Amino acid sequence: MYSCLVHNIYVINFIPTGKIENMNDSIKAIILAAGKGTRMKSSLPKVLHKISGKALVERVIDSVLEIDNLNEIFVITGHQSESVTEFLKNKYKNESIKTVLQEPQLGTGHAVFQSYDYLKNFKGTVIILCGDTPLLNSQTLQSFIEFHKKSDAALTVMSALFDDPTNYGRIVRDENENIKKIVEQKDANSEEKQIKEINAGVYCIEWEKISPAFFELTTNNEQGEYYLTDIIDWSVKKGLKTCGFILENNKEIFGINSRRHLAEAARFLNTMTIEKLMENGVTFISPENTFVSPETKIGQDSIIYPGCVIEGANIFGENCVIGPNTFIEGDVKTGNNVKIIQSKVSNAYIGENSAIGPFAHLRDRVEINSDVRIGNFVEVKKSTIDSSTNVSHLSYVGDSSVGKNVNIGAGTITANYDPLSKKKSRTIIEDNVKIGSNSVLVAPVTVKNSANIAAGSVITKEVPEYSLAIAREKQKNMENWVEKRINQIQSESKIEINSA
Ligand code: UD1
Ligand code: MG
Repeated sequence: MYSCLVHNIYVINFIPTGKIENMNDSIKAIILAAGKGTRMKSSLPKVLHKISGKALVERVIDSVLEIDNLNEIFVITGHQSESVTEFLKNKYKNESIKTVLQEPQLGTGHAVFQSYDYLKNFKGTVIILCGDTPLLNSQTLQSFIEFHKKSDAALTVMSALFDDPTNYGRIVRDENENIKKIVEQKDANSEEKQIKEINAGVYCIEWEKISPAFFELTTNNEQGEYYLTDIIDWSVKKGLKTCGFILENNKEIFGINSRRHLAEAARFLNTMTIEKLMENGVTFISPENTFVSPETKIGQDSIIYPGCVIEGANIFGENCVIGPNTFIEGDVKTGNNVKIIQSKVSNAYIGENSAIGPFAHLRDRVEINSDVRIGNFVEVKKSTIDSSTNVSHLSYVGDSSVGKNVNIGAGTITANYDPLSKKKSRTIIEDNVKIGSNSVLVAPVTVKNSANIAAGSVITKEVPEYSLAIAREKQKNMENWVEKRINQIQSESKIEINSA
């Protein structure tokens, strides 16, 4: 149950109790994403702008995908529909997400009407949302649908209370607080403009009952558009049960229309995420200088230092230390007691008690076991590193399998790439190997168990186990060479002075 103050009285989203016959019926969603987003001043379609590492429309779709019994999503595209369609195709292999073209874009009512042919024989509930309201969470959507179904409404509109309702459609209620209609800012009279309950742009409709309204929408308004909001007035006049659902947290329906909104929404989302993590026992030294995407989980007693940007879905263990100034790009999982200092990490597993950085770069499927040390200026790419191994300074480990108890000396490089064939090859370094500083391992190559490599070696063929490989010019000491050279220079300069 939610309750909110509207027109100085409390309006309660009272969810009736009792069993509802249609609770398990399938649900379909329509997401409006065809608008131009002029105020973004961007060559990128508005819904593809990102907050906290995810596109706006992606955030909406991901929340919708969590709704129980949802079996189909129609995304209405129009402005730059190719890029939006392409994005969705790459992101979701899910056949149930379909794009529907709206060309030209004649308003939100016209947008929904484009999916009419696909839904002609559908008899269940349709939830309609905007692609530019990325903060709505799935629990809220679930409660909204539950409220709609239990109220046995033909139409339910989501609303919220804003101190400054400017630019939103206003919910007009009658003297009994029943919803009458929605009036857009541009069409509102001065009294209606005072209303602080706004239309969130999210609707639940019983398709069979409400869809005839789309044939009756007109462009008889200030903007000359087919307004989706006019279905409310239509439903009320037809005597169909029309309800309102007031959002508890009005920040959730924050819509993005400009870069300022984008930054504000990112800030809201970040604050909500960090507050939740703090409630679960994570320390943030400076929450306002730290960015964590809501998909990230962090274990208890971990400490996040300032300057960290943690994007995407990641899972950190307990007692971890991250930062300062660390960029986690997603798909990172760690055990407990892991430290990642001043580094960039993506797509990596880091086992317990391992330490990364400062200034390390881990990417493209890296698997690091426990008690490993990856030190400063070390890049690890698409490699596995087994437990208790050290790569402490200035190295590149790419396309490699590194065993247990290995020590990789400073400046060691695995030369994995042949620029002519453009092929990459693997380097295998078995357990207990010790590699001297400034060595190059030219892949494909294997260094067998417990072998040693002398510093400065260029290794091009297999090193047998327990052997020492030296692959560099043998040292030659030229005795008294310096003294002889000095004498030579001095005698040459005397000749020059004499001859002058
Ligand atoms: C709309 C509502 C307003 C509500 C607000 C909430 C209408 C008429 N008004 O206004 O009551 O308070 O949302 O955010 O519905 N779109 C299309 N095709 C079109 C036009 C728009 O797909 O022809 C899409 C846009 O891409 C956007 C969504 O519909 O995702 C909303 O459109 P927008 O122009 O932002 O409507 P608002 O003026 O914000
Ligand atoms: Mg809008």
